Amino acid sequence: MLTNIDKVDVCCGLAWGDEAKGKIVAQLAKSKKYNFVCRWSGGHNAGHTVYVNGVKYKTHLIPCGIFYGIPSIIGPDCVVNVNKFLEEIKYLEKHGFNTNLIKISQDAHIVTDNHIKDDKKLYSDQGTTFNGIAPCYRDKYARTGIQVKNEPALIRYIWNDILYGNILCEGAQGFWLDINKGNYPYVTSSNTLPYSACSLGFPPQYINTIYGAAKIYDTRVGYDSDFPEELFEDSHLSLIGKTGSEIGVTTGRKRKVNWLNLDKLIDAIIISGTTVLIISKTDILEKVELYNYIYQSNLHHFNSSDDMQKSIKDLVLSKCNLLKKVIFSDDVEIVNDL
Ligand code: IMP
Ligand code: MG
Repeated sequence: MLTNIDKVDVCCGLAWGDEAKGKIVAQLAKSKKYNFVCRWSGGHNAGHTVYVNGVKYKTHLIPCGIFYGIPSIIGPDCVVNVNKFLEEIKYLEKHGFNTNLIKISQDAHIVTDNHIKDDKKLYSDQGTTFNGIAPCYRDKYARTGIQVKNEPALIRYIWNDILYGNILCEGAQGFWLDINKGNYPYVTSSNTLPYSACSLGFPPQYINTIYGAAKIYDTRVGYDSDFPEELFEDSHLSLIGKTGSEIGVTTGRKRKVNWLNLDKLIDAIIISGTTVLIISKTDILEKVELYNYIYQSNLHHFNSSDDMQKSIKDLVLSKCNLLKKVIFSDDVEIVNDL
């Protein structure tokens, strides 16, 4: 049931996850007046790093609204590992956050121990996060899954399905990990594109701003034929990975690094409907003084960060009709201009 929704904003990843969505969502939650912050997909395969008053926090499942006292919803298309969820609740309580604000849709699915076992057994060659995500969605779509409403441990967290006012939807993973748009089968098992935020229970017409997050270089964790292992051997790309601390929040694995693929980024901006693009980690390329991107399958070189940023901005604004604004941000900077 929804009552009097004013508008919905969405923040989604435009790459392969790890695009600093956590930073952007936290900044939005802090500065705009949202009544709810909601996750619409995935489970604890995600990892969001957020700085609140200079302190670093990590969450995997619970939306970042919780850090700013905003009701935080885990939607019906998410998958929930009960132990991991309760661990995260404890962690947030220990740090003084009000966990009464956290609610889960009764229709979200439960990740079981067997899902985790199956993930390790069936998907080891794909380098999944081994959190049972694919087997859980498998059972959901086979209509044999267990839902939150069947789990006594979660009864007190069940959401009443009501949304109102201003809503921020927090994406997990990224455009090219989407089950439909990604390099199948090297994808995750959920719908990461902004339209799928409507699974929370509102019509698409309410969606207002779509914040699309990217980085000034690409990274990929887990196997993907588009990211060959040889990328690890490229000394420039390895240097960028090292300088940018490209290590997975959830799995601690080293991320493969490649030059920003603008062909892919432009597709992701257009298809996601991104209206505000935020490209993070510009300071990392500045530290190593390497400025390249791939466009029309060719590598393009620039002499300075400014030249590269100007070129990216001109190109994406000319190719993507719905895009209104492009913001560049360094690794730690608060994105003031949202
Ligand atoms: P799964 O979601 O654990 O099934 O993993 C499927 C693929 O998506 C693997 O390549 C993972 O490394 C990748 N993946 C899943 N979640 C994230 C994320 O939050 N950030 C980056 N990669 C992810
Ligand atoms: Mg992440």
